[in-house]
Amino acid sequence: MGSTGWDNFWKGERKSFYAVMKMATRYFVLNIEKIYHLKPADEIFDYGCGPGFVADSLAPKKIRITGADINEFFIEECRRNHPDSLFTVITTDTTINKKILEEQLSGKRFDYILFLSVTQYLKSVSELEDIIKLLSVYMKEQGMIIVSDVLDENTNNKKDVLTLLIHCIKKGRIGAFIGFIYYLLFSDYRTISKQVKLLRVSEQAMRDLATRNNLSCEKVHGLTLQKTRSNYILSFTPVK
Ligand SMILES: C[S@@+](CC[C@H](N)C(=O)[O-])C[C@H]1O[C@@H](n2cnc3c(N)ncnc32)[C@H](O)[C@@H]1O
Repeated sequence: MGSTGWDNFWKGERKSFYAVMKMATRYFVLNIEKIYHLKPADEIFDYGCGPGFVADSLAPKKIRITGADINEFFIEECRRNHPDSLFTVITTDTTINKKILEEQLSGKRFDYILFLSVTQYLKSVSELEDIIKLLSVYMKEQGMIIVSDVLDENTNNKKDVLTLLIHCIKKGRIGAFIGFIYYLLFSDYRTISKQVKLLRVSEQAMRDLATRNNLSCEKVHGLTLQKTRSNYILSFTPVK
């Protein structure tokens, strides 16, 4: 992707993309905590971890996570906030990432690998497949990759923004919502989204990808605030 791509946007992003996104990540974490009964012994890898909102949300429960992101600034922030955890800078090249993860993770396996709100910034389903292949190496036999917040043909931005607004009102955070809308309309995000469409991945494409890689694929509802987006659990065996 050229200099105007999503990868360049994210590598340069500094502002930690604001309160509403933090709230949305927290909502996701509360859901997976509830569904999977996360505990301190669980090994969790957050691929595309951003500034560490998942780590921040799980820290009070003494659940420490491992993270990786293409943005060095975010990784520094994660390291500062969670000095006992491993956070690694990766690239957008899966072959290079394979080497980085081999070095950094040295044979570690995870119960949960999170891929939250990243799919839409990839170039293609084939890039997603390369990442899933890479990540599946680090999944425990009974583990799972949670691919969340996936845009598809049913995604409706207006409906999703409305859900965010309702959530912000309920939480008394209307200021955060205004900041988020301002960001969507007036930041580089807006400029880039006009040039490079966010990737949409259909349910069938996700299921085909899973089948090609001998993974089972379950679609789950309600993990994220944005209800017109999709969530999938990929695992070696049918989901627990
Ligand atoms: C919307 S943020 C989500 C951050 C975090 N997962 C969360 O939900 O709080 C998208 C993140 O994906 C990262 N990202 C973008 N392209 C990536 C890629 N090809 N591989 C890994 N991470 C990527 C960005 O740097 C950014 O931190």
